[in-house]
Amino acid sequence: MNPKHTWMNGRVTPWEESLLHVGSDAVLRGASVFEGIRAYRSADGGDLLLFRLAEHWQRLFGGSLRVLRMRSRFSPDQLTAGVIELLKANEVRDDAHIRVVVYFDVLDGPARGEEDPTGAYMLAFPKPPNPKLESGVRSTISAWRRPTDNSISPRVKASANYLNSRVALLDANLKGFDIPVLLNERGKVSEGPGQNIFLVRDGVLVTPRVTDAILEGITRQTVIGIGAELGFPVEEREVDATELYVAQELFFAGTNMEVQPITEIDGYQLGGGRIGPITERIQRRYFELVRGAAPQAWLTSVHGAQVVA
Ligand SMILES: Cc1ncc(COP(=O)(O)O)c(C=O)c1O
Repeated sequence: MNPKHTWMNGRVTPWEESLLHVGSDAVLRGASVFEGIRAYRSADGGDLLLFRLAEHWQRLFGGSLRVLRMRSRFSPDQLTAGVIELLKANEVRDDAHIRVVVYFDVLDGPARGEEDPTGAYMLAFPKPPNPKLESGVRSTISAWRRPTDNSISPRVKASANYLNSRVALLDANLKGFDIPVLLNERGKVSEGPGQNIFLVRDGVLVTPRVTDAILEGITRQTVIGIGAELGFPVEEREVDATELYVAQELFFAGTNMEVQPITEIDGYQLGGGRIGPITERIQRRYFELVRGAAPQAWLTSVHGAQVVA
């Protein structure tokens, strides 16, 4: 069932009235950018906490909008107020996933960039716990490559980039796998269709560099911090495809997937087919952080907050 409301251009809006014009550049050419954000019920049950909102706004404003020369009509503070307003309007008290989209609207001529009209909308969906967080997912190395930084940069969270994700994910699903790993144009490991990847090799946490055709993930950053906190050395480096076959543990990291163990890749089983010990410790710490143990600056209270427009 669809949620009752969206937030569109400054207003909580009934789902059925949340429409974009067919002439908008968003519809015509996929000209929009977005963020996927999580809200978690706090460990004490009394609140809903948005995780690392400042980092999401930084990536949206300082990354995606900047590269595409888009101007948002709404400031980060206004978007924060909008997310809270929407969660309240939909009476969300449990874990949820929120998408915040900034789009190019109908153009009255050729694209000019910052002067072109834009709009913004948000969707919020309930997100019950994922049973595969324990049992793991089956992966495969995709024949589809991530786009290059010089074509359509994976660093930019542009909606159109997700056609690459869509085709790679669908292809993997049709072959019986859950989530693929994509290589970059150099044939090195980049990331999943919507999540970064980590390997555990001899007690070391390894993840591709930000220059390996990845989205600079916020969960990736959180996991690197958890690794340091738990005393695991962390290496950000180029990763060969076959390293995925000889790693002791593999996991995906992303706002949506959280810390998701991979228990098989291309028929190579990992850790006897269940979550590995290091992945398990990182996953446990991740959930402690998102449910209230993180530094105050990483958590935005939904039901306790003063909403500032
Ligand atoms: C392609 C891609 N890589 C990685 C990520 C993980 O990023 P984050 O942890 O900020 O959600 C995402 C999710 O937004 C993504 O779409």
